[in-house]
Amino acid sequence: MTDSVERHAQAELSLKELSFSVNGTRRTVRVHPMERLLDTLRQQLGLTGAKEGCGEGECGSCSVLMDGALVNSCLVPILQAKDADIVTIEGLVADEKLNDIQEAFLQYGGAQCGICTPGMILAASHLLRKKPEPTMEDIREGLSGNLCRCTGYMQIFEAVAEAARRRASGAL
Ligand code: FES
Ligand code: FES
Repeated sequence: MTDSVERHAQAELSLKELSFSVNGTRRTVRVHPMERLLDTLRQQLGLTGAKEGCGEGECGSCSVLMDGALVNSCLVPILQAKDADIVTIEGLVADEKLNDIQEAFLQYGGAQCGICTPGMILAASHLLRKKPEPTMEDIREGLSGNLCRCTGYMQIFEAVAEAARRRASGAL
């Protein structure tokens, strides 16, 4: 066997079949167990909403929800996602309509280049589930793991506050 054929055979042997739920649908993939969840979502499952920014757990643009917790998918080996319940930004859209947080981002100019936006919206969604009526400080803290180079943050914080107000008033 040539070296390259042998390497290919070894790589094949190291692949594992793993199943987990993504946006409510059970998915099974054949992957290297240390592949990043971000890559599996984007490359194998075609869910390109999670973005790669830093690739080092610093910027939050790759955020997804895993069993209800906000995680940086660039730091999660796919093995850890086995049997987990993953929600990506695509899972927040119902009937092809924007959800209330997305609407508020649109209204307040919270999305500019868009790289940080999916992660910001997932972080906001996670925050509002834990704290339906957050203070501005809660919002700053809840989104502190997500960096934005474009907006200066205020439009984002105001969009999240607006989504919370609308939920509280039953407007959405
Ligand atoms: S790409 Fe994952 S935290 Fe920046
Ligand atoms: S909108 Fe560009 S990084 Fe936030």
